[in-house]
Amino acid sequence: MDPMREKSIELLNGVVADELAAIHQYLYFHFHCEDQGYDLLAGLFMKTSLDEMHHVEVAAERILFLGGDVEMKPAFPVEKITDVREMLVKARKMEEESVAEYNEWANIATAEKDAATRKIFEDLVADEERHYDQYDQEIDNLDRFGEKYLALQSIERSKSMSGGD
Ligand SMILES: [Fe+2]
Ligand SMILES: [Fe+2]
Repeated sequence: MDPMREKSIELLNGVVADELAAIHQYLYFHFHCEDQGYDLLAGLFMKTSLDEMHHVEVAAERILFLGGDVEMKPAFPVEKITDVREMLVKARKMEEESVAEYNEWANIATAEKDAATRKIFEDLVADEERHYDQYDQEIDNLDRFGEKYLALQSIERSKSMSGGD
């Protein structure tokens, strides 16, 4: 295999590893938010997890196109965080790291003269920046409204379950 493809395949498998870890981590957060009655955050973690699954798909398709194979190894194990604020801080940090990493890999792809792989990294950066922003916004809400913000989510659930207004 020519060296350009080998490097791209390695980086794209780095994406797969990061994204698989994120999917697992966000699903874990989803379960615990739902268990604690925080439906809005449970929904956000589920939706983000699905976005990350799509990222795996994009990277995997490119890996196969380049003649490699997809290494289905999560980059890190699930961290068992159940405090909502700690979840959001962890999630924001994961997105921040992905943005930095994918930006760097986009530059490596350019150096390797692989524009199509670069484009994938660029699109991922845009998505991860959006995820970062969403988690940052939630942390901001918590800082501003504290327990009231979380309590409101529980009240909304009770209302919907009792069929009230
Ligand atoms: Fe992602
Ligand atoms: Fe993300």
